[in-house]
Amino acid sequence: MQTHLRGRDMITTQEWTKDEIDTVIDVALQLKRQRAMGIPHASLRDKVLAMLFFFSSTRTRSSFEAGIAQLGGHGAFIDSDTTQISHGDTAKEIGEIYGRYYDGIAIRQCDWGVGNRYIREVAAASRVPVLNMQCDVYHPFQILADLMTIIEKKGDPRGKTIAVSYAYAKSYQKPLSVPQSLILLMTRYGMNVRLVHPPEFKLMPDIVQQAADNARYAGGSFEIMHDMDEGFKGADVLYPKSWGCWVTTEDQAESVEIGKKYTDWITDERRMSLAQRDAIYMHCLPADRNIEVTDGVIDGPQSVVYDEAENRLHVQKAVMALTM
Ligand code: CP
Repeated sequence: MQTHLRGRDMITTQEWTKDEIDTVIDVALQLKRQRAMGIPHASLRDKVLAMLFFFSSTRTRSSFEAGIAQLGGHGAFIDSDTTQISHGDTAKEIGEIYGRYYDGIAIRQCDWGVGNRYIREVAAASRVPVLNMQCDVYHPFQILADLMTIIEKKGDPRGKTIAVSYAYAKSYQKPLSVPQSLILLMTRYGMNVRLVHPPEFKLMPDIVQQAADNARYAGGSFEIMHDMDEGFKGADVLYPKSWGCWVTTEDQAESVEIGKKYTDWITDERRMSLAQRDAIYMHCLPADRNIEVTDGVIDGPQSVVYDEAENRLHVQKAVMALTM
């Protein structure tokens, strides 16, 4: 267990050692147990977290707001559109000023080519920890919750096979942050990681290279595949979700047209039967029901999506308790 995390930013799990991430999971499990038993754990009394959103959220906003309150503090919801950020407050000014008002600054900024840079600029100017609530490149708290869920359901992740697969969706061109963060973290935990996608839906090349390096170091494997059925075969963990083809084109209309070639990339009962009999189905949500995944699968016995969503609360509380 690591005990020197006060003041640290969480922008990507890549910047935390495995020991430090093990500590987050350990503390998250402890906080989950305490909440289940009704044991108060107000370790952040009088602390205030700024929660700055440039993009909508159901789970992230609510789990951070509930989490900081359960730790005895307060979460201040800030919508970028209704602040002077929309009239020119810079990232540096936000880091400097919010860093003086608050004890932590959490930010969601998912714009392609902008989000990660913005969060890092705020962090560089801030005297308090900056927490990435999702950017264009990473979604660290989602992936910490996913790791916790895999450990709870499957035990030691080493040697288990996870299929991180593209799935078709209509709703919007989703960021790359979830699949990228998944391949980065699960390779560090010795999993056999299959990244499965149509050719146009590749991830950022430097992230893919880091995932391959992680796998080599941790003793797992990392493979890129282009057939969803092959990706599912014999897998222990299935994580099929939609993302936009941002690396191929930044033109949203073109991206939508390319996606239409892959409407059969859906998780249904037939595909689930290709995986291990006790495989789990994961999704960060929101999902396009009956387009990305059938109701039968997402509401079925192999789905762990609600436990996964719950674990957002516990890992976020752990990181806040350790860093703020
Ligand atoms: N999974 C996730 O980040 O959900 P929200 O977009 O609702 O926050």
